[in-house]
Amino acid sequence: MRAYIGEVSFDYPARRARLAALLPDHEVHALLVTSPVNVQYLTGLASSNAAVLVRADGSALLATDNRYIDKARTLDVPVVEAPDVAGTLAEPGAGIEAAIMSVATYRRLGEGLVPLGPVVEVLRAAKDDGELELLRTACAITDQAFADISGKIIPGITERDLARLLENRMIELGADKPAFDTIVAAGENGATPHHAPTDRPLRAGDLVTMDFGARYQGYHADMTRTVSLGPPAAWQREVYDLVAQAQRAGRQALAPGAESRDVDAAARTVIEDAGYGDRFRHGLGHGVGLEIHEEPFLGPARTGRLEDRVPITVEPGVYLPGRGGVRIEDTLVTREGGPELFTKTTKELLVL
Ligand code: GLY
Ligand code: MN
Ligand code: MN
Repeated sequence: MRAYIGEVSFDYPARRARLAALLPDHEVHALLVTSPVNVQYLTGLASSNAAVLVRADGSALLATDNRYIDKARTLDVPVVEAPDVAGTLAEPGAGIEAAIMSVATYRRLGEGLVPLGPVVEVLRAAKDDGELELLRTACAITDQAFADISGKIIPGITERDLARLLENRMIELGADKPAFDTIVAAGENGATPHHAPTDRPLRAGDLVTMDFGARYQGYHADMTRTVSLGPPAAWQREVYDLVAQAQRAGRQALAPGAESRDVDAAARTVIEDAGYGDRFRHGLGHGVGLEIHEEPFLGPARTGRLEDRVPITVEPGVYLPGRGGVRIEDTLVTREGGPELFTKTTKELLVL
């Protein structure tokens, strides 16, 4: 299997029109967008230096430097070449992305600019059909890579080598690159949620947590599985079954209209009721799309309701210092009638 679905095209003017319609609510006549992924979302230009000014009347001007100008001129938006992209487009009364623009740039340009919270990020949360197809493909590559390398999850291979096998296989299967730095955590290292792979070899008796994903045409998959090297001890089976039960509860709570913190609570209470509440200290999940972590976020203090068509992870874990840990993570998408599961690798405890 090698995943190719051809280049997917998007209606960028329609996205800018949706943004423009929101600007009066934020009391600005224009938004100066400087987040590279937000510029990509609104124009189709992927770059490390571009900005787009979108006005409330729907008009827009894109600025980028000489490295990206040829590509920019092929897009359906007026473009200007300028190395100082934000300085070229800034105008009094325009909103800026406060979480993105540096303090130094704001001080330089700040006169009359209006710092705003996430605007484009909120627009990006619900995906269109083309985006969902890219995410489905990214997740299929992720599943297939795991299936292809699973015979190599054996005592003696190191965390680093296993991470590299997963990453290389995803690229062979058509991924742009890994969606994030792959986590492989064996034995006691599994107690650290975001452990960086080391030269520790896997050993019989380890639980091994692998958190990885493919990026495909810019869209990020995210999946975690924990496997047992040899028959699990009683405590390993108990913790695995608990996390699996919590993960199921979290998935079942995903629905358009659900409160973010209620989805988190559906899974968290399962773990708390079993006495492991203080061993699950991160949020339940996050949106995925052009970024690996994006709106919306699921956590005890997260407010807001989920929309329809929102790809999101559900990833409870239990982490026991000195012993190990279990995390199970899927990427799903909210749909009326129940979420669609994108990562399909089994969640039965694999004993390898
Ligand atoms: N792979 C990073 C995360 O699960 O959030
Ligand atoms: Mn992950
Ligand atoms: Mn995740």
